[in-house]
Amino acid sequence: PVAERVADLLGRMTLPEKVGQMLQLNAKEGVRHLVEDLHAGSILHASPERVREAAALTARTRLRIPLLVAEDCIHGHSFWEGATIYPTQLGMAATWDPELVERIARATAVEVAATGVHWTFSPVLCVTRDLRWGRVSETFGEDPFLIGELASAMVRGYQGEGLDDPTAILACAKHFAGYSETQGGRDASEADISRRKLRSWFLPPFERVAKEGCRTFMLGYQSMDGVPITVNDWLLNEVLRGEWGYTGTLVTDWDNVGRMVWEQKVYADYAQASAAAVRAGNDMVMTTADFFEGAQEAVAQGALAEAEIDAAVSRILTLKFELGLFEDPRHPDAGRQAEVIGSRAHAALNLEAARRSLVLLTNDGTLPFAGGPEAGGEGRRATGTGPRTVAVVGPNADDAQTQLGDWAGSSGQADWLPDGQPRAMIRTVLDGFRDHVPAGWTVSYAPGARILDVGPDPEGEFFPDGQPRPEVVHPAAPDAELIAEAVAAAEAADHVVAVVGDRIELIGEGKSTATLELVGDQVALLDALAATGKPLVVVVISSKPLVLPPSALGAAAIVYAANPGMLGGRAIAELLLGLIEPTGRLPLSFARHAGQQPTYYNQVRGQHGTRYADLTQRPAFAFGEGLSYSTVAYADLEVLTAVVGESETVRARVTVTNTGARPALETVQVYVSDTVTSVTWAEKELKAYRQVALAPGESREVLFELPAADCTLVDAAGVRTVEPGRFELLVGPSSRDEVLLRGEFTVKG
Ligand code: IFM
Repeated sequence: PVAERVADLLGRMTLPEKVGQMLQLNAKEGVRHLVEDLHAGSILHASPERVREAAALTARTRLRIPLLVAEDCIHGHSFWEGATIYPTQLGMAATWDPELVERIARATAVEVAATGVHWTFSPVLCVTRDLRWGRVSETFGEDPFLIGELASAMVRGYQGEGLDDPTAILACAKHFAGYSETQGGRDASEADISRRKLRSWFLPPFERVAKEGCRTFMLGYQSMDGVPITVNDWLLNEVLRGEWGYTGTLVTDWDNVGRMVWEQKVYADYAQASAAAVRAGNDMVMTTADFFEGAQEAVAQGALAEAEIDAAVSRILTLKFELGLFEDPRHPDAGRQAEVIGSRAHAALNLEAARRSLVLLTNDGTLPFAGGPEAGGEGRRATGTGPRTVAVVGPNADDAQTQLGDWAGSSGQADWLPDGQPRAMIRTVLDGFRDHVPAGWTVSYAPGARILDVGPDPEGEFFPDGQPRPEVVHPAAPDAELIAEAVAAAEAADHVVAVVGDRIELIGEGKSTATLELVGDQVALLDALAATGKPLVVVVISSKPLVLPPSALGAAAIVYAANPGMLGGRAIAELLLGLIEPTGRLPLSFARHAGQQPTYYNQVRGQHGTRYADLTQRPAFAFGEGLSYSTVAYADLEVLTAVVGESETVRARVTVTNTGARPALETVQVYVSDTVTSVTWAEKELKAYRQVALAPGESREVLFELPAADCTLVDAAGVRTVEPGRFELLVGPSSRDEVLLRGEFTVKG
């Protein structure tokens, strides 16, 4: 019936109505013109008032086709006061837990659907490469397999049991594809990437979610080999629609069609650009209002057939019918909002996510500060011998916006969280310590360092959203008074926590950074704190792995927290106080120097060790790393099926033992190394992992089943294939060679 309804409606539409149906326009600019003159099929960034206004206008149009309402709800509802903001995708990735990520996406969908939004532009499936890229925090990290696991979980969570469920929202896999392979980390630069390289690393997560039913895909911004992604016929038609049989809907990124005219300059006018975009398979054109005239002109000139527009419009109408919008337009529902937005259940899930996302990178035994939950105290406060003082210092100890991360009503895009205003639902690290230290302990605070001075753009250059351009505070001029205040707090304290990182103005689209260092006065602050001789705990709240100075690397403990969301500060305090156990694992590697790019673990084998003369190529912290408060030993790796056929399964087992005194959640990681390959290939790749809860002293045998068909590479002809021969199986707690047990198996030809 859906196909019949689509055909019937399409048959009654005029060309302008069809072209308008392909337009997704920015509701912030007002909706009357969009609906009445441009016949827009979709709006984004719409407040509930705008949604209602647009719906009322739509109801007066000839065919009364409901609008699709879209929003960037990436780790919670980005633009809704009081909505639950979870850790960013990077933080979620540090949990390595698809089941948890699916629950987060489901809960997000429930909140988002109540606000009249039908479509979220999430998840991001980009593979992080250069850490200077501004959008690292939106990714699941550097490994295609982990990305595929978590992204498909997120898609399942958003889309729920089926689109007819009123709490289901459309997921959108983005940015298709290779957008993260930037030059110098600069956002949306030309991607120097071959088709074979795309197939090797960038396409697998997309192929997985395409085949698992992700209903929409968004394109990236970059061009590859001179072809803007928006018109990459090979990628969109041959691979996505052809090879993978994808029947979902494609949306461009922001003004991609216009940018081909005014920025990339590959088309002289909108008629040509619009024709090329439709022909390449785009269904919805984001924020290029000139597409309306352009596509019609292209049809009039014979450069585009109306049938090509019909194909795109059919896919959009199909989504609308499947969502049931003609019967129930799913408008904002104030009753539902009161019930579900920021609900207690979602707050509990958020806290669970934040707790699971924290990665303990080093610890000389200084952590935890105290001894677990107070008896009979509802688990809120830690027990400790007192009275003691914790000095919480550093610019990110009480910066709610940076803690929330990008796409969280911040970046100047929403005004519900102005700096320093009441933020009842958010607990910063400072709040967390105040709430959870053992009875009788005190907490002192000093910001200690500046990160940025935000001033007018001195060069008059474009900066996204018309925001003032941030000026990094020059490290040569640290604010001695601020640092002295923090040092005094540290000297008077028993425990010292420095919370450093980056800042919201340096995170996101168009905001790549040339440096990875801790900017502003932060290094001077850490040096001064280290010089006090007090054991120093460094917590890094940042959108990406940063280069840590020797005073941080040599600290008593380091915790990486990504952007941990609303309750991240509470989770951090709980972790340091010993109320919870550290369980996170790095979803990407930390560099030692901004010039050490790239640092991802699965680099292709080169010659001369592909090293610098002045720096080891070993990352500061590697993919998969993360400690617990206990110790876990690996032993007895045994490959049970040493010789397998290509369609058979390799079975192996390993024993893991908690040899410490506290519980641990161990992430047992399985890597495969193809010993001889017809093309240069990664030394090893993650193929499986298992999270195992271990009580103190407990030992468990972990069994793995790995299809030989997963042990592939992409050959010189660009074909993904298993090359029979000898493989190594590497099992252990991280991607670092020295911690992996080795076994081997052979795949028969
Ligand atoms: O969804 C985003 C995309 O990730 C980057 N450009 C803007 C889009 C819509 O806001």
